[in-house]
Amino acid sequence: KVKVATLSDIHSFKEYQQVYNDIAKKIEDEDDFDVDGSAGPNLVRLAWHSAGTYDKYDKNPHTNGGSYGGTMRFSKEGGDGANNGLAKGREFLEPLLKKYTWLSHGDLWTLAGVVAIQEMGGPKIKWRPGRKDLSEEYQAPNGKLPDAAQGPDYVRKFFNRLDFTDREMVALIGAHTLGRCHVTSSGYDGPWDFAPTMFDNGFFTQLQKGVGSGEGQWHLRKWDGPEQYEDNNSNSLMMLPADMALVQDPKFKKIVDEFAASQEAFFNEFAPAFQKLLESGIHFPKESKELVFRTLDEQS
Ligand code: HEM
Repeated sequence: KVKVATLSDIHSFKEYQQVYNDIAKKIEDEDDFDVDGSAGPNLVRLAWHSAGTYDKYDKNPHTNGGSYGGTMRFSKEGGDGANNGLAKGREFLEPLLKKYTWLSHGDLWTLAGVVAIQEMGGPKIKWRPGRKDLSEEYQAPNGKLPDAAQGPDYVRKFFNRLDFTDREMVALIGAHTLGRCHVTSSGYDGPWDFAPTMFDNGFFTQLQKGVGSGEGQWHLRKWDGPEQYEDNNSNSLMMLPADMALVQDPKFKKIVDEFAASQEAFFNEFAPAFQKLLESGIHFPKESKELVFRTLDEQS
């Protein structure tokens, strides 16, 4: 087995909390990272894209992806069009690797995603260390990250490849409550809700009403860019076709309605699903401890 979390050179909870704190403070300090300020959304996407290459049907550790090897640092995986914009997040975290020379890229990127979610008001995410940097030969093939132009069948099939249920996949996409699309990265444009640096169930309350001409509903944006939706109220929010898929499929829609009605239900589903995502394709020995970090607020 190749992708086994190491127990031998992991560090104490206190040291990982220190790394957590450094990342959290850096996010706070560098509040001109993006249009909405915070680097948080980019870091959540970095964590997810480092892990989301996993393919449970592929038994070859050289090609089956996941966050273990930190292989997005190499040009093929880093240069996959789906990863446009993430070099900025990787550079943002670079000083941490200099300071904590024992930290692997995979541990740093996944931990940064956890920091960002918790500091932006999201649920506590259990996290385990032990990923090791792997060589270039372990880069996942390009094209393993999802296509935003697709519908419900594609979304379900995509997340089945990562071993997720309907509830888990709907919850995970709820991370689109954060951040925005950048024309320069994906070709799409705009944020999903009005508080893109707050982790809440805003994505679901916006999405819930679906396409139509009514209050709070969505229409296709008229523009030269790729097909995306725009809200009738402000014409300033966006949904991807793959987001809209979640209200087109009746099974997905029921879950969207549940998460729109209850942020607690969303958080309860999201937290373990995000941990599972970050651990995709990694074997953790049973002695591995799950760490739960305190936010900066909780420590002050
Ligand atoms: C951003 C697609 C699932 C978290 C984006 C962007 C696209 C996209 C096109 C815009 C990138 C840019 O232009 O900067 C998709 C598709 C998904 C999916 C097609 C699945 C069907 C997820 C999941 C998560 C996530 C599972 C995390 C759990 C984010 C975040 C951003 C983002 C936080 C904002 C990044 C920023 O503001 O820089 N996604 N995504 N996405 N995605 Fe997803």
